[in-house]
Amino acid sequence: MSLDIKRPSINKTKKKMGFVVKMQLNNRVGGTNKRNNLFVFFVFFRNYYRWILWFFISLYFFTSYFFSGDNPTTTTTRLLSYHSLPSRALIESSAIKTTSTGIFNGMKIYVYDLPARFNVDWVTKSDRCSTHLFASEVAIHRALLSDSSVLTSNPEKADFFFVPVYVSCNFSTTNGFPSLSHARSLLGSAVDFLSDRYPFWNRTQGSDHVFVASHDFGACFHAMEDMAIEQGIPEFMKNSIILQTFGVNYKHPCQEAEHVVIPPYIPPESIQKAVERAPVNGRRDIWAFFRGKMEVNPKNISGRFYSKGVRTAILKKYGGRRRFYLNRHRFAGYRSEIVRSVFCLCPLGWAPWSPRLVESAVLGCVPVVIADGIQLPFAESVRWSEISLTVAEKDVKNLRKILEHVAVTNLSLIQRNLREPEFKRALLYNVPMKEGDATWHILEALRRKLDRSYKRSRVLSQ
Ligand SMILES: *[C@@H]1O[C@H](CO)[C@@H](O)[C@H](O)[C@H]1NC(C)=O
Ligand SMILES: *[C@@H]1O[C@H](CO)[C@@H](O)[C@H](O)[C@H]1NC(C)=O
Ligand SMILES: *[C@@H]1O[C@H](CO)[C@@H](O)[C@H](O)[C@H]1NC(C)=O
Ligand SMILES: *[C@@H]1O[C@H](CO)[C@@H](O)[C@H](O)[C@H]1NC(C)=O
Repeated sequence: MSLDIKRPSINKTKKKMGFVVKMQLNNRVGGTNKRNNLFVFFVFFRNYYRWILWFFISLYFFTSYFFSGDNPTTTTTRLLSYHSLPSRALIESSAIKTTSTGIFNGMKIYVYDLPARFNVDWVTKSDRCSTHLFASEVAIHRALLSDSSVLTSNPEKADFFFVPVYVSCNFSTTNGFPSLSHARSLLGSAVDFLSDRYPFWNRTQGSDHVFVASHDFGACFHAMEDMAIEQGIPEFMKNSIILQTFGVNYKHPCQEAEHVVIPPYIPPESIQKAVERAPVNGRRDIWAFFRGKMEVNPKNISGRFYSKGVRTAILKKYGGRRRFYLNRHRFAGYRSEIVRSVFCLCPLGWAPWSPRLVESAVLGCVPVVIADGIQLPFAESVRWSEISLTVAEKDVKNLRKILEHVAVTNLSLIQRNLREPEFKRALLYNVPMKEGDATWHILEALRRKLDRSYKRSRVLSQ
C-alpha cells in the first residue's frame, strides 16, 4: 500500500532533520570565536552541503505531505475521509500488487473445490443466478478465486475455509423467486462431502469455515420470519462464520452464529448504465421516490402483514401527493428513476433489509431507511449515519415534514458525503476484487476474526 511507500521516506526525513539540527548546534557551541565564524561556516557548508540540500528537499516533501491532509495511518480504517482522493488513487493502484507482503495480516483463505452440482451448475442452468439480489453467494466465490493475495491452494496454510454453495438459484416458475426449500439439504450434503474428504471441518467443528446466506433471514433459509425463527439456523452451521444480508441490532435466532452483515448484490454494470443514462445536468427532479410492492389492503398472513403495514401507510398518506413519486408496478428501468431522485425510501419488506439501500446510495439518492432495528452492512467501517436518513416506522406519517426539514438543513451535506467514492465502492462486489469493495470489506471483517484460525492458534501455543 502507499503507506509502505510513504512511511520510509517520512522516517528518513525526520532522521535527517534531527541530524542537521544537531550539526548546527554542535557547530555553534564549538565556533564562538568571532574571527573564525565565517571560516567555520564555510567549512561547515563544504562538509555538510549534502545534508543541507537533503534537509531542504526533505523539508519540501515533508510539508507537502502534511498539506495533502491525508493521514496514512487511518486510510484503511476510515472509510469516509474527505480530502484524500489523490492519494487514494495511489493506494488503489499499488495495494493489490503489494498485498502479499501482509495485507489482512497475511490471512489465507482456502476455497473448497466442490462438485459443480453445489454451485456452478446452477449458473449454467440460469444466468440470473449470478445477477439477482441474492447473488452475493456467487460474487464472493468468484471474487475470492480471483484474488491471489488471500487465496491459498494449500488448505494446511489456510486460516479460513470458504464453502461455495449456491442456494438461491432454484427459481420458482410461478413467481420467479428462488425456492429455498432445498437450501438446508444442499448445504448439509456439502458439509458431509467436505468433512468426509478433508480433516479441517472435524478439527474445529466448522468454526473456521465461512458460508454465505444472502436471504431474507440469513441462515434460517425461510422468507417468512416466524417460519425462519421456528426452523432456525441449521445445527451444522451454528459454529461457523456466516456472511449474511440479514442483520438486526437486537437478539434474533437467525443471527445467532458468528456473522458479518454484507450488502445485497447489485451488478456493478447496471449501476454504471444507470449513471450513464442520468440527466447530463445532474438534476434530480423527483423529490421522494419509491417503486415496489405496496398493498392497498394488506393481507393478514397468519398474523403478519407485509412490511408491518409501513408501505401501506406510506401509500395511503402520500400516494398521489405532490413531490412523492410512488409506484406499485415493476419497471426494469427503475434505476434511472433513482438517479433522478433526491430521497429514496427504503422501507422494510418481510425482512428489514432491501436492495434499495445499495441502489440508492451508489446512485446518489439519499436512502431513507424505514426499518426499526436494522443492522446495516459493514457498520464498523461504513458510516451510514452520514450518508442516509433513518425514520422510525411509527413516524412515517410525518415523513414529509421530516424530509422537508432535512432538505433545508443538512441535505447538501449528506449528498456530498454520498459522492465519496469509497462509500460506493464498499457496497459493490467486483470480479476481480478491488481494494475497498464489498469483498475487500468482508476480508477485513474476517481478519478481525483471525482468533478463530486453527493454524494461528497452533502457532501461538507452540
Ligand atoms: C427446487 O425447488 C423445488 C420447489 O421447491 C423443489 O421441488 C426441487 O426439489 C428443488 N430442486 C433441487 C435440485 O433442489
Ligand atoms: C469427520 O467426522 C464425521 C462424523 O463424525 C465422520 O463421518 C468423518 O469420517 C470424519 N472425517 C474425517 C476426515 O475423519
Ligand atoms: C390476523 O389473523 C390472525 C389469525 O391468523 C388473527 O389472530 C389476528 O387477529 C388477525 N389480525 C388482524 C389485525 O386482523
Ligand atoms: C441530518 O438531519 C437529520 C434530522 O435532523 C438528522 O437525523 C441526521 O443525523 C442529520 N445527518 C447528518 C449527516 O448531519
